[in-house]
Amino acid sequence: MDISESPQWHDLEKQSIGFDDLRLADMFATQPGRTEAMTTRLGDLIVDWSKHRVTADTMKRLFDLARTAGLRERIAGMVTGRRINTTENRPVLHTALRAPVSAVIEVGDHDVVPDVHAVLRRMSAFADRVRDGDWTGQTGRPIHTVVNIGIGGSDLGPVMAYEALAAFRHDRVRCRFVSNVDGSDLVAALGDLDPATTMFVISSKTFTTLETLTNARSARSWIVGRLGEDAVAKHFVAVSTNSDEVEAFGIDTTNMFGFWDWVGGRYSIDSAIGLTLMLAIGPESFLEFLDGFRTVDEHLVSAPLETNVPVILGLIEVWYRTFCGLPTRAVLPYSRYLHRFPAYLQQLDMESNGKRVRRDGAAVDYQTGPIVWGEPGTNGQHSFHQLLHQGTTIVPADFIVFGTPDHSNSEFTGVEIHHDLLVANCFAQAESLAFGRSADEVAASEPDPALVPHRTFPGNRPSTMIMAPRLTPSVLGQLIALYEHQVLTQGVVWGINSFDQWGVELGKKLAVAIIPELSIDGSPTHAHDESTNALIDRYRAMRGRT
Ligand code: F6P
Repeated sequence: MDISESPQWHDLEKQSIGFDDLRLADMFATQPGRTEAMTTRLGDLIVDWSKHRVTADTMKRLFDLARTAGLRERIAGMVTGRRINTTENRPVLHTALRAPVSAVIEVGDHDVVPDVHAVLRRMSAFADRVRDGDWTGQTGRPIHTVVNIGIGGSDLGPVMAYEALAAFRHDRVRCRFVSNVDGSDLVAALGDLDPATTMFVISSKTFTTLETLTNARSARSWIVGRLGEDAVAKHFVAVSTNSDEVEAFGIDTTNMFGFWDWVGGRYSIDSAIGLTLMLAIGPESFLEFLDGFRTVDEHLVSAPLETNVPVILGLIEVWYRTFCGLPTRAVLPYSRYLHRFPAYLQQLDMESNGKRVRRDGAAVDYQTGPIVWGEPGTNGQHSFHQLLHQGTTIVPADFIVFGTPDHSNSEFTGVEIHHDLLVANCFAQAESLAFGRSADEVAASEPDPALVPHRTFPGNRPSTMIMAPRLTPSVLGQLIALYEHQVLTQGVVWGINSFDQWGVELGKKLAVAIIPELSIDGSPTHAHDESTNALIDRYRAMRGRT
C-alpha cells in the first residue's frame, strides 16, 4: 500500500499548508489547560508534548493515518513474533527479551521465553562470580576491569547504559569500551591495564564484524603475550548468535552467552549484549532495567493510540518530517550521565528509518527518518543552541531532565545547588524556543534600533519535555523503550522496514577490496574510480609503499 495515496495523508498535506501560521503563543493563549491535556504519564516518565505545533485536529488526523497504516496490527505482529523484518525473513522480538517468565512467545512452534530466561540466569551467575571476586584470572587474582569489544549495537547500548547508570556501578569492577578499528581505541583502553585483572567481553551478533574481530585478535595477543595461551579461557568471554565463529576464534563456547537472530543489533541491549552492563550494575539492577522496558511495552500494546506516548511522539515526528519538511531532531539530555544517549539514538533511529524504499521495494516520494543528533545541556547552550534559537532551520528538540541529580549521594558538599541551575536552564531553553522574544519586547529595552533584529527571538520552535524523578535502571529502560517504539511508529506510517540495515553493506565490501591495495607489494590494481585510486596511491606514498 502507498500510504501517500490515502485520504488521511492528503488531509494532512492540506493541513500542513497552514504550518507557518500555527503559533505556539496563540495556542497557549487560546487553550487554557493545554499543558495538562498534552502531558502524558508513562511509568515514571512525565512527557509534556504541549509545546508542539499541533492542534487537536492535527493529532486526530495523525491517529487516523496511523490506523490506515495498520499500526495496531504491526505492533501486534511484532510482539507475537511475526516475520515483520521481511527482507531478512525474521521476527523482530526485542520485546521478548524483557517478557515475564510466565509469557509465551512463539517463533514457529518454539516458545522463546524460557530460552531468554535461561540466558539471563547464566549471565547473572557469571556476573555474580566476577563481581564477588570468585572468578579469577590466570594468576588467581580477581577481575578489576572488563573491556567490552564490539561496535554498533554491540557497543552503543552497553556503553551508553554504563555511563548513564554510573551511580549504580560496582566499586571494583570497572568497564571500558573498544569499538573503533582505529588502533588508538584499543591502545588507549589497554594502556594502563594489568592483564592479570582484565577480562574481555567480545560482543558481536554475527562474530564476523571486521572492527570487532580485529580488536579481539589484538586483545587476544595482548593477553597471550603476557599470560600465555591458557589464559584465554579465563580472560575472554563471547556474546554472540554464532557459536561456530566464536569457537573458530578460540573462545570455548562454555564461555559464550547466546542470543537470537530475531534480536536486531540496535535493539540488543536487553539480550546477552547487556552482559558488560550487568557486570557493572549487577543482576538485580539489570532486571530492574528490563522491568522499565516492559512497562513501556505493555503501554504500547494496551493504551489507546490517543494516549499512547511512543505513538504520539512518533506521529508528531512524522508530522514535522514528512508534512512540514523539518529535516532533523535534537536530543538534549540535561544529565551528563546521558552523554552517549544521543549517539545511541542515532543508531536506533537512523539505522532503522534511514530508508528510501517501502516494504514492497517501491521508492517513497516523501521524507522518512530525520537526522538525529544532540549533546547534553547546558554545554550545547554555549555552542549550537544559537542555531536552534535564531537559525533558519526549525529543529524540534527533546529535553530530558530528572528531579534528583545522580550525584546526590556524593560527599561533595555544596554541589546540590548545581541541579537547580541545570534544571532552570533546561526549562528556560524550552520556554525561549517556544515563545521567543518579539522585536517590540526587544525594542523596549534596546536603545540601538540596529540591534533589535539581531536580538529578536522568533520563538515558535517546538520541543518535548521528558521528566522523571531520577535516572534509575528502570527509568533508563523506560526511556529507551519509549524511543524504540517511537521509531517503530514512524517506520510503520512510512511503510518502510525499520529492521534491516542494507545501507551499511556497500561500504564494508569496498573496504575489504581496498585493504589489500593499501598494503600489497608492487602496484595496486587501481580497480576503483579515479579519485579513489589516487587516494590509495597517496596513502601508499605516505607509508613509503610506492
Ligand atoms: O554494520 C551495522 C551493524 O550490522 C549494526 O546493525 C550492528 O549493531 C553492528 O553492525 C555490529 O554487528 P555485530 O554485532 O554483528 O558485530
